[in-house]
Amino acid sequence: MTCVNVNVTAPPTVVKPAARGIVILTASVAALGGLLFGYDTSVISGAMLFLQTDFHLSDTQLEFAVGIALAGALVGSAFAGYSTDRWGRRFVLLGTGIGFAVFSVLSGMSVGLVSFSVARFFVGACIGVASLVTPLYLSEMSPATIRGALVSLNQLAITVGIGVAYFVDYSLAAHGSWRWMFMTAVFPAIVLVAGMILLPESPRWLARKGFRDRALAGFQRLGRGSGAETELREIERALLEGKEGFLSLFRPGLRMAVFVGVALAIFQQITGINTIIYYSPEILRLSGYPSAKAAILAAAVIGVVNILTTVASIVLVDWLGRRFLLLMSTAGMAITLGLIGWSFSRHAAGVIVFYEMIGYIVFFGIGLGPVVWLLMAEIYPTKIRGQAMSLATLSVWGANGLVAGTFLSLIHAFGPAGTFSIFAAVCVLAFFFSLKFVPETKGRTLEAIERNWHDIEKRTS
Ligand code: BGC
Repeated sequence: MTCVNVNVTAPPTVVKPAARGIVILTASVAALGGLLFGYDTSVISGAMLFLQTDFHLSDTQLEFAVGIALAGALVGSAFAGYSTDRWGRRFVLLGTGIGFAVFSVLSGMSVGLVSFSVARFFVGACIGVASLVTPLYLSEMSPATIRGALVSLNQLAITVGIGVAYFVDYSLAAHGSWRWMFMTAVFPAIVLVAGMILLPESPRWLARKGFRDRALAGFQRLGRGSGAETELREIERALLEGKEGFLSLFRPGLRMAVFVGVALAIFQQITGINTIIYYSPEILRLSGYPSAKAAILAAAVIGVVNILTTVASIVLVDWLGRRFLLLMSTAGMAITLGLIGWSFSRHAAGVIVFYEMIGYIVFFGIGLGPVVWLLMAEIYPTKIRGQAMSLATLSVWGANGLVAGTFLSLIHAFGPAGTFSIFAAVCVLAFFFSLKFVPETKGRTLEAIERNWHDIEKRTS
């Protein structure tokens, strides 16, 4: 098996300890984009039944009301790359925060299926944009040595958002206040807007647009000190190479980066994460779990484990590297999914399936969850990062829709044992794919990573 190595010429700049606080604060505010992504994808589960009753929806209409945000996310992620390359990372995140605030309130105030669907479509578009721009902005702001941890704050925020949505749904369900389930998102959205007004634009984007002085000042503000000039020169050198534009994504060399990003995005979804995130109470009930209430509680435990293992990944990713975590993760997910399938085929007790699901989430949270978004934000050249990420993010949302939309039919056709065995086999594929194609990017500057693809191009041409 061959593994792609990254070659470096300039050492990564070191951030002054005093400025680390500013970098972490910047990352935490921007990560609110991830929190809103997690919150708004999950909040609908608790509101579904109320919507159906209040708006007198048929099952098909309800499915439409639930799925419309996904359509918005597809559209949002398709346009996000172009917009962020053109207008800047900060401006687009700021606009997304405003969008989240406005359309979350409108979703809560809707009076029927049409107004609800329109509002949720735009919330979905904001989710699509945030899912792309948040990791991208974080990767461009972060110093190479801690970039893994800072970009993975995005995934931590997604998992926290999912957890908060469950909690809010649970607390408001008793009073039937489904409108507030949606409107609660306005609070983190306002903080995101306020934060993005104060935070600086990505120095890499500024350099690309020719605002050299502002880019340098930005790096200095982010604590790069005397290393700022070196970092900026390295970026400028990289910007001189290669072409802009969507078609340049398909040149030899870059083609490979695009292929790796898109494949990882698809693998992240078709290895079944959202069957567990969206359907865990149903899966546990299928395995003979004692009661619906116990199954919902078990789902909450799964959510907490997802958060905790993402924290572990943040601690480990700049130390053990992306490849190691990815390989461990896909191998562990294959084993635990295989065990879930086996338990179903043996009619094992529901509690055993629960522990196996926990095992699966541990392996997802440590690797495939955070590392895929991280790699997507760091393997593409600055010139085309937005557009390349659009392609990968679109793949995430497309594959997400495919899995969520077919899971129940798969269970119907192959039974739970067969379905989870299929997901296990896909994890095996993801393992070998990562082993062969995924580069180690730990500790490298984005420009050094970019040169890696140029080297491959030279070698292959
Ligand atoms: C995935 C989502 C998933 C979430 C769960 C994210 O990385 O993109 O589809 O719901 O992780 O934590």
